[in-house]
Amino acid sequence: MTQRSSVAGELKWWQRGIIYQIYPRSFQDSNDDGVGDLRGITARLPYLASLGVEAVWLSPIFTSPMRDFGYDVANYCDIDPLFGTLADFDELVAAAHALGLKIMLDYVPNHTSSDHAWFCEAIIGHDSGKRDWYVWRDPAPDGGPPNNWVSFFGGPAWTLDAASGQYYLHQFLPSQPDLNWRNPDVRAAMGDVLRFWMRRGVDGFRVDVIWLLAEDDRFLDEPVNPDWTPASVEHARLEHIYTQDQPETHEYIRELRQVLDEFDDRMMVGEIYLPMDRLLPYAGTEDARMVHLPFNFQLILLPWHADVVRTYADEYDAASLAAGSWPNWVLGNHDQHRFKTRVGAAQYRVAQTLLLTLRGTPTVYYGDEIGMQNVPIPLERMVDPAGLQQPDVPAAGRDPERTPMQWDATPNAGFTGEGTPPWLPLDDAAPAVNVAAQDTDPTSDLNYFRALTRLRREHPALLGGTYASVDMGAPDVFTFTRSLNGETLMVLLNFGSAAHDLGALAGERTLLSSAGDQPQPGAALRPNEARIVLT
Ligand code: GLC
Repeated sequence: MTQRSSVAGELKWWQRGIIYQIYPRSFQDSNDDGVGDLRGITARLPYLASLGVEAVWLSPIFTSPMRDFGYDVANYCDIDPLFGTLADFDELVAAAHALGLKIMLDYVPNHTSSDHAWFCEAIIGHDSGKRDWYVWRDPAPDGGPPNNWVSFFGGPAWTLDAASGQYYLHQFLPSQPDLNWRNPDVRAAMGDVLRFWMRRGVDGFRVDVIWLLAEDDRFLDEPVNPDWTPASVEHARLEHIYTQDQPETHEYIRELRQVLDEFDDRMMVGEIYLPMDRLLPYAGTEDARMVHLPFNFQLILLPWHADVVRTYADEYDAASLAAGSWPNWVLGNHDQHRFKTRVGAAQYRVAQTLLLTLRGTPTVYYGDEIGMQNVPIPLERMVDPAGLQQPDVPAAGRDPERTPMQWDATPNAGFTGEGTPPWLPLDDAAPAVNVAAQDTDPTSDLNYFRALTRLRREHPALLGGTYASVDMGAPDVFTFTRSLNGETLMVLLNFGSAAHDLGALAGERTLLSSAGDQPQPGAALRPNEARIVLT
């Protein structure tokens, strides 16, 4: 199917549907150990179906020492006992499919855990058959690391293996050694990992740090970033021209795509933090496809101003069409502060409306549908290595956005047993902000979210329709239309705290307002209001 026919309405599931990200440690605990698990997720599938989402992406659930909470995989083809068993996983997939939900896994190809059998074998010595599965270099002449590369969590990207006298590369923790993707055996083994899960019924993958797979093989120092300030993380001190977005990475992704295409109707979405001109090529071309969706993180990264967001949306929509790539939008994930905290409570529904009405696949982070916020984590409860290793950069820690899901008003919010300490503290707001309280309240954030997903189902223009921004002469207001087969919806978003008289819109009927009422045609757009009208 070409992108052109998909615009006309024949959409794939990953184009029409919403992806819902679960951080499994924090969704639902079923065995009272304070950590969420697969059986917990299975028990909550009816809730996910009630949201109107299409697919559920699970952050890593594989065997792991959990030094980076699962993004350090020790066995790609098994489930960590903390989360359950392969049988629990099969049950989850079957139950999800029975409810019409797709299951996506988190595929972590750039690095393994240092506990992985491959690394345990590689570190035995120069002659190990797996030595070249990782990236080893001799020390610099002074005995120090081979070059100036730094890891994402601070400190050098190289650790010395004293026994062999060589350094190994790790773009994250020393316990997350980088795989050597130049080695065809690595690529073959990692392709088999995808096959293993697709045979078990997995519908798609979110691919971790996919733009980091290859490094320049001259191993030159990276230049210093002239804009760096100490307020920002050490990793930002360098310009990553040799460790990110290398031409070889594109080749390797094409190979992965061929593996996916051995199976029907599977997809992958790549984690890629790059500007638009370097992001869109990751979707590939008609001749050589790459990822189905390269994550578009700009709603997280851009300042929250109507004109900034409109300018970006216009450029991104046009560039996606020109590139033949399906657009997508993200407001939050397990690495970014909660969006309600970022944009402010007053703008929460404006942001949610934007995410679910722009052209392209939305990804929703668990709990954002009930308005969960960052939870302040006292020093003694911090567990995220990114935060612990960079105490001078308070924003670096990711625990605040990973706290347990708030299900009800009981102690521990229904996440785990009432007497069990949860792995991260719950929000003090949980007794008021939770699923049970919001489920029965027609004015709640949860039911506003459901109203938005219902509109998406009832109005195909919101899925496959064209996008065009409309200048209403108010810089605080971002307005756009979505049109398909003669139907046009207009989305009006007031990013400001003043009302705006926008004049009567021809044939206007309000379909939804964030204020929960049905304003008359032509009624002023209220402060912080989001409104969707049929024109
Ligand atoms: C990705 C993940 C992040 C993890 C890192 C290392 O950025 O989203 O959580 O720490 O990769 O795997």
